[in-house]
Amino acid sequence: MRILVTGGAGFIGSALVRHLLNHSEHQVLNLDKLTYAGNLESLAGVAGHPRYRFLRADIGDQAKVAQALAEFQPDAILHLAAESHVDRSIDGPAAFIQTNIVGTYSLLEASRAYWLDLPEARRQAFRFHHVSTDEVYGDLHAGAAPFSETTPYAPSSPYSASKAASDHLVRAWQRTYGVPVLLSNCSNNYGPYQFPEKLIPLAILNALEGKPLPVYGDGQQVRDWLYVEDHARALVQVLTRGQVGETYNIGGHSQRKNLDVVRSICTLLDELAPRQHAGSYQELISFVADRPGHDRRYAIDAGKIERELGWTPQETFESGLRKTVRWYLDNLDWCRHVQDGSYRRERLGALKEPGA
Ligand SMILES: NC(=O)c1ccc[n+]([C@@H]2O[C@H](COP(=O)([O-])OP(=O)(O)OC[C@H]3O[C@@H](n4cnc5c(N)ncnc54)[C@H](O)[C@@H]3O)[C@@H](O)[C@H]2O)c1
Repeated sequence: MRILVTGGAGFIGSALVRHLLNHSEHQVLNLDKLTYAGNLESLAGVAGHPRYRFLRADIGDQAKVAQALAEFQPDAILHLAAESHVDRSIDGPAAFIQTNIVGTYSLLEASRAYWLDLPEARRQAFRFHHVSTDEVYGDLHAGAAPFSETTPYAPSSPYSASKAASDHLVRAWQRTYGVPVLLSNCSNNYGPYQFPEKLIPLAILNALEGKPLPVYGDGQQVRDWLYVEDHARALVQVLTRGQVGETYNIGGHSQRKNLDVVRSICTLLDELAPRQHAGSYQELISFVADRPGHDRRYAIDAGKIERELGWTPQETFESGLRKTVRWYLDNLDWCRHVQDGSYRRERLGALKEPGA
């Protein structure tokens, strides 16, 4: 297949692009605006791959997206481009409305026009796979059953509300116009190449620098963690085997309290990079004022994708977290370039645009 990936320079998108190039025969066009969250250094290992191209574009630029579709002739679109950080959505919701809602609308329209012009067999086979989050389902009480695909939407933050809106648009474009869509809603991801603004990499890097490890509120918020490479494999399963119009929840059976996650990171660092002349990294844990509207718990019932598509996560939280901590210890240059902003200035030589 020829697959157009939006947001392929981000955390999950880059894991997906690496996965597609290293574990399949698919052709990949990575279309990414390169916001602060887009980092081509995460793709350095595949930048020169013969089945890979990169195009810098905004999903909201319908003319440029239409041109990219006409030139690349994809069989599928995997849509990951989004503003994704909840704290940023609270400080400045406008970019979230623009990219996650208006941008998805614009991408849907460009995709619909392209799809309508395809010859019959390719039109039948075409897929638009929208990648979303479990946060659209809102807050889950301690004893409540995990989110299923039929759980009503109840988003709490500007981020999750904008993702919920985009999910509704994608479903409407199938129901109204017949665009062959797939949706997946995934729990919290972690793993290599995640920006240090998110909990796990922030805790690892702060700990190594001897800085406080901020934990929101009482740290009892529960998230259901999934190793990012397991998510990439799940996305390929949904794209290639999922039923048109269906939603698949993706999760790792790894519910953990935020405080326990940070403690586990400290324990791993105590073993792998012990502090000089000091006690455990746990001494750095510091409770900070809770995030407004902070959901207490998310948990995913991934039974449908396991039963129907045969996907299961390969990593436990313990094995995935160990790999992740190891990766950050081994890739401090990547982290430094993110922290000092140099990743945005550098242009990797192997940028490839259609026709280039
Ligand atoms: N990170 C998670 O735990 C998680 C969990 C479930 C679902 N998701 C969803 O998965 C997707 C990817 O998440 P992520 O964590 O990799 O995000 P990220 O913030 O790391 O990456 C987002 C990417 O999208 C690009 N982008 C942003 N605006 C764009 C625009 N207007 N046009 C083109 N490109 C643009 C950025 O440059 C960046 O490369 C998102 O849709 C997110 O909602 C994330």
